[in-house]
Amino acid sequence: MRTYLVTGGAGFIGSNYIHYMFRKYGEEIRIINVDVLTYAGNLENLKDVEDYPNYTFVRADICDSEAITKIFEENDIDRVVHFAAESHVDRSIKNPEVFVKTNVLGTLVMLNAAKAAWELPDGSFKENKKFLYVSTDEVYGSLDDGDNYFYETTPFSPHSPYSASKASGDMLTKAYFDTYKFPCNITSCSNNYGPYQFPEKLIPLVINNALQGKALPVYGDGKNVRDWLYVDDHAKAIDMVQEKGKLGERYNIGGHNEKQNIEIIHIILDTLQEMLPDSDPRKALVSEKLITYVTDRKGHDRRYAIAPDKIKAEIGWYPETMFAEGIKKTIQWFFEHEDWMKNVTSGDYQKYYEEMYKNK
Ligand code: NAD
Ligand code: DAU
Repeated sequence: MRTYLVTGGAGFIGSNYIHYMFRKYGEEIRIINVDVLTYAGNLENLKDVEDYPNYTFVRADICDSEAITKIFEENDIDRVVHFAAESHVDRSIKNPEVFVKTNVLGTLVMLNAAKAAWELPDGSFKENKKFLYVSTDEVYGSLDDGDNYFYETTPFSPHSPYSASKASGDMLTKAYFDTYKFPCNITSCSNNYGPYQFPEKLIPLVINNALQGKALPVYGDGKNVRDWLYVDDHAKAIDMVQEKGKLGERYNIGGHNEKQNIEIIHIILDTLQEMLPDSDPRKALVSEKLITYVTDRKGHDRRYAIAPDKIKAEIGWYPETMFAEGIKKTIQWFFEHEDWMKNVTSGDYQKYYEEMYKNK
């Protein structure tokens, strides 16, 4: 049975990935999820799988080298999928230190622990082991409003403390391949959306605020462009890169789905209007009047756009969920999980861990 060590599995993409993997492989795999549970980590995201015999949760900080080494010593780990990170650009502008600690030093701890566990006395590595660093398109910097794209060969030019810290973790991973032939891949994905996304990010924030008749803050002129991908498509791409990716290679992941922020907000408002029944009192609250232009994000990247040609050609991955379908699925999920959103916005979700482990 193949054993996966997933870091940051209680966050947005990590929890979706764990669900995806259990849906796909069932009892054929074992997953160990290591997460320190920052504000972004929520074990409610994994309620459906927490009792699976082939799932284990370990609360630990990826910067804690002793705790991470212990996991490798006690388990024969075959795959590492390294999601754990501080992930929100606005927070990085206010408080960069924790981004460097987790995203750079934490990544180094993960690389060293995997290397120590997998390296053979002659400096080669055990067969069929792989570490995947989940990077971001933000390492490439920003594009203008033309029809140019980020390729795997695009030079790095990160602008925010977040993207600079992710670029550092990314380059460390690459350096471990170049120096030691450490078995790894790097994936650079565009903006994700879907279930369990924390409502500090644009799409869940707009859905949540609109349903309560609260202001929808638009940074700057609202014309910054992001390239949106449904989170299950990202999970699938990561799995395919783990299985088919050539060692040491980087793969861009994106859906050719570029939209201005203001377009996204209009699509969400229209979709909410379409999906809410007339009898629902929230329907009257959902209105374009909520759109509020606010001061721009400092150093705001103008446009991200991924060229996913390499992953398509070499690995056969392509995005399956069109935006119109993905946004409906996401909104439907939020309709069906009002308690999840209430627990997150009230802070109650942080009590879940204590509750869950009280009787164990
Ligand atoms: P998230 O903020 O929702 O989740 C991050 C998770 O990491 C949380 O569960 C948190 O508790 C955990 N974590 C943070 N610091 C930790 C530490 N020191 N030790 C252990 N666990 C820790 O993030 P996300 O949006 O799910 O992103 C996951 C990864 O994907 C990140 O590496 C991010 O850079 C990358 N990524 C995100 C997107 C996106 O659109 N969200 C796109 C491309 C790449
Ligand atoms: O591109 C991948 C990246 O996407 C990931 O690496 C990051 O972890 C993830 O957070 C995301 O970064 P962004 O900064 O692009 O996402 P965010 O949802 O914060 O913002 C999306 C766009 O919307 C961005 O141009 C800023 C704008 N925005 C955001 C918020 C929260 C607003 O106009 N208003 C808002 O309230």
